[in-house]
Amino acid sequence: MNNGDTITLTTESVLRARGILFSLPRELNGNILSAIEETLSFFEGDDSASFIDRWYRNADTVSYDNTEAAAAYLGAYGPRSILKYQEALFALLIAKGFIHKYLRIIDFGAGPCIGFGALIDLLSVLAESANTSLELDYVAVDRSEHMLEVGDHLCHQLIDNTRIQVNYKLFRSSDFTPCSANILFIANVMNDGEGNLDCSQFITSLVEPFKELEDIVVIEPATEQPSRQLCGLDNNIDSWQYIGPCIPGEVACSEWTFRQFSKRIYACERRCLGKWASAAQIGKYSLALLSSISNPRILSEGESVIIRKPSASGWAQTCFHGQKQMKRVTPQATPWDIIDRSGKLVRRWP
Ligand SMILES: C[S@@+](CC[C@H](N)C(=O)[O-])C[C@H]1O[C@@H](n2cnc3c(N)ncnc32)[C@H](O)[C@@H]1O
Repeated sequence: MNNGDTITLTTESVLRARGILFSLPRELNGNILSAIEETLSFFEGDDSASFIDRWYRNADTVSYDNTEAAAAYLGAYGPRSILKYQEALFALLIAKGFIHKYLRIIDFGAGPCIGFGALIDLLSVLAESANTSLELDYVAVDRSEHMLEVGDHLCHQLIDNTRIQVNYKLFRSSDFTPCSANILFIANVMNDGEGNLDCSQFITSLVEPFKELEDIVVIEPATEQPSRQLCGLDNNIDSWQYIGPCIPGEVACSEWTFRQFSKRIYACERRCLGKWASAAQIGKYSLALLSSISNPRILSEGESVIIRKPSASGWAQTCFHGQKQMKRVTPQATPWDIIDRSGKLVRRWP
């Protein structure tokens, strides 16, 4: 269905898109993979793995102060990040029930612009599934000029192969003047590796000037410090409603909840991660979706949200508006799915 500027997402189009995007193990679209490899062939140094090893071992804030470091990030973390951006946006769009035909997205802390690849791919699949045309305006903002240099190259490669209409602009944060946008992404930016420790303070200082912003997607690593803050974003940011993946109660929550999926390991990940490459077979992330227009998820009587990966014997920690309970759940259930009183899957995430 088409309502002028927006497209209603039908159950059929959502199911089709889900089938294409969320295989197990997850895989990247071949065009994105080629664009990453082409970009790496341009910028990658002789020993990307040494950057990653240093970042793993060193507690200091990471500085991406040359293009080799930015390329090492792209090869090591890009594929996983892309799949997380896609899951997160898909979940948001399902919650909203519609998509703007002309979608304007700001990716703050965009790094090498992997978000652009993720969005082009997701929107192409949705456009095809809904048999419509979509246009994407992507704005990347970052404090690292080297990330943006690598990102510019990647965007250029991606744009050559897209079926939807796309525009992109890149800005250093020091030169960026807030513009109109529908959705703001902040992904893997508010954590100790980046030196940004207080999520609500970071978001509050950022969002005020953005005009017409409808939604904010916050993705963070599954590590404890940022994860615990994301549930707590409920009622913490003025005029923004926390709409998922959890369903908070009256009392402020600081649950450590995250989700994971298995994925293929790609050659660029093996090269850039070196001895840490096995970590690339799992994508793990925590998430908060904030909205100024959509409503939180609703639990009917007896339903609850899974907040931890079920054990091998099928027991999982669940949450009903802040009240936690261990329940035996359907074997295929994963974090953020909603189950009924008997542990049967009622609504899948995303
Ligand atoms: C770990 S990378 C994440 C890149 C991408 N969003 C992703 O999820 O793969 C974090 C990026 O955020 C940028 N960043 C961190 N703090 C920032 C700030 N205060 N302002 C602008 N950019 C920031 C860094 O330069 C880096 O490129």
